[in-house]
This record gives sequence, C-alpha cells and structure tokens, in this order.
Amino acid sequence: MKPSSKVIAVLLCSLLMTFCRNQETNSEMSLNEPTATLQTDICDDPDAAIECCFANMPKQLTSTMVIPDDDSKSEKLIISGTVYRKDKTPYPNVIIYAYHTDSKGEYSKKGTETGYQKWHGSHHGWCKTDKKGYYRIETIRPASYPKTTAPQHIHSAIKIPGNEPFYITDFMFKDDPNLPKNMQNKYSLQGGSGIVDVKKVGNVWMGKRDIVLN
Ligand SMILES: [Fe+2]
Repeated sequence: MKPSSKVIAVLLCSLLMTFCRNQETNSEMSLNEPTATLQTDICDDPDAAIECCFANMPKQLTSTMVIPDDDSKSEKLIISGTVYRKDKTPYPNVIIYAYHTDSKGEYSKKGTETGYQKWHGSHHGWCKTDKKGYYRIETIRPASYPKTTAPQHIHSAIKIPGNEPFYITDFMFKDDPNLPKNMQNKYSLQGGSGIVDVKKVGNVWMGKRDIVLN
C-alpha cells in the first residue's frame, strides 16, 4: 500500500525538525565549549616566557609606575632615572616591568592576579619612559626572602617596541647588609650592576638608577 501524501509530508517535517535540533545542539556546543587556547593560559606558569611579563599591562602607560601596598609596616621607596641607548642618548618609549616581594619578603598575592602575575604577586607594575628617557617607580622597599640572607631585590624586564624583551639586572640596595661584597661590580645582565644608593628623605627611601642598554 502506497503511503498517502499526508503521511509523507508528516515524515518530512519530522525529519527536518530532527535535523534542525541537531544543528542547534552542535552550534551551542561550539559556542559554549572553550577552545584549547582559551582554556590554557600559557603565562600561568612560574617558568613562562619573558613575553608574559607584558601580557597583562595596561594599554596606557605613563613614565611613573605606582605599585600599591596596604601594609602599614612597609617603607616607601621611590627610584627614578633615565634609560639610555648605548650611545648615551635618552631612550623614549621603553617599557619597564618590575615586581618584588612585600615587607615580609614574600611574593604576596591579592587573589586577583592572572597569568605570570599569579607567580610574581601583587607588587608589580609597568611604566614607559618619556621623551627624555625618564622613568619613576613608586613602591615599597622589598624585604629579603624570609629566613634567608638573600639580598633585597626588585626584578625587572624591559620591552622596546619592535624588539624582543629582556631582563635587566635586579634593582638592589647599596646599604643592604645582605648584598655580597663581590656583587658590587658584577654586571650579570643588561642595565649595569642594578645597585641603587638609597637615602631616606623623610619617611621615603629615594634612589636613582640610570639604565644604559646595549
Ligand atoms: Fe626574587
């Protein structure tokens, strides 16, 4: 017995509805399912590539980096200076990244950090040299790692637009009793020894570091 045209029409409608439901389910899956790229933050790694230092920086930077701190025991620190090219001309638009321990010597976190800053902690920031190569970092004096004789230090990396980023020698402090004597003249990375002669002005440690890049 041949199916009536009405039965054929009902079957076709049913098939089409099933097809459309499957299509919707598939498109929902592709929209809601994160891709491997979104799921994996390659900068959330203590050994991430140096580029990750600059992944979270604000779009607009000034020549002053301000690193907030809400510990009343922290001592304020301001370091400023000029970044120069090898030929000693001022280097504008150089991005400086810095991160360091808190007043207890720990890379403490606020819990809102992402990417590399999950490992570097909340005491981090960026700035960009002005047209005279000038930069300024307003932060607190970092403490040595707890129960160690490691010198106080501020890690720093540099990014010049169009070039590969690189680390410079850590900022360290001339009056730090933990600063090894043989470190005074040891230049391990770009930017000189990194040792800053800080002096207390009021209740703020002030220091100057000029950075000559190769
Ligand atoms: Fe460190």
